[in-house]
Amino acid sequence: MKEQIRAYITESCPWQDSVLYFDSIDSTNTHAKMLAAGGAPHGTVLIADHQTGGRGRLGRSFLSPAGCGIYMSVILRPNCPPVQLMHLTCAAAVAMCDAVEASAGFRPGIKWTNDMVYGGKKLAGILTELSISASGLVDYAIVGVGINCSQRPQDFSEEIRSMAGSLSMAAGRTVERPRIAAAMIESLYRMDRELLTAKAALMDRYRADCVTLGRDISLVKADGSVRYGTAVGIDDEGALLVRFGDGAEEAVNSGEVSVRGMYGYA
Ligand code: BTN
Repeated sequence: MKEQIRAYITESCPWQDSVLYFDSIDSTNTHAKMLAAGGAPHGTVLIADHQTGGRGRLGRSFLSPAGCGIYMSVILRPNCPPVQLMHLTCAAAVAMCDAVEASAGFRPGIKWTNDMVYGGKKLAGILTELSISASGLVDYAIVGVGINCSQRPQDFSEEIRSMAGSLSMAAGRTVERPRIAAAMIESLYRMDRELLTAKAALMDRYRADCVTLGRDISLVKADGSVRYGTAVGIDDEGALLVRFGDGAEEAVNSGEVSVRGMYGYA
């Protein structure tokens, strides 16, 4: 698989030489953090065929069966204050839309902040994690992406079948995982080059891809309280601007946002 992926990566992407491939691993993000703490360089890419402990946002698990998805993490060392990386998840989401468009022939949308969707179903999720050094700068950032590639509807449990999709379901044909993985690496490499220098342009691209904008949403906070409103914007740090029922507008950074009409939210 590793050689197949390499064969699809163009010469101009130096990250092709730092790909680590695992048949099975607990979590590429967890392993990447361990390698980064041990000094692994910027641009180290971890790819697994299977994860036994894949992790998602909000402490959730991320189902990572063998043979049908791509589970990838990249170690970045941007050497900047963490406040300059508030848009990292958004930048990675745009990069993943680019990668899917280039390799699978269609462009997914983004459900704020970190889900890639098509036809109302989740195709992929992104988990970014930062480590801050004693100096207050980012020691390393991990960008982790899990993409459902070749699942058929019956491959998903009944519980998630109405909400989950795959690239091949969306494209209506089989997709080549090595080709998708190569496009993901190239796209993340390009994102990294623009991350700190073209933030406004990246965020404009995020807004263009984001399917949450203009939709009715519900926000569940950590304390379990629920509020309803409309998503009216996204600021340059990636926060969702929500107009709530009482007319108040707030920037939302955390919590679970459901979009009416998606993932079974009626
Ligand atoms: C989410 O949907 O909440 C984010 C899911 C992120 C999953 C990817 S798979 C590769 C990397 N390793 C992990 O354990 N998580 C991320």
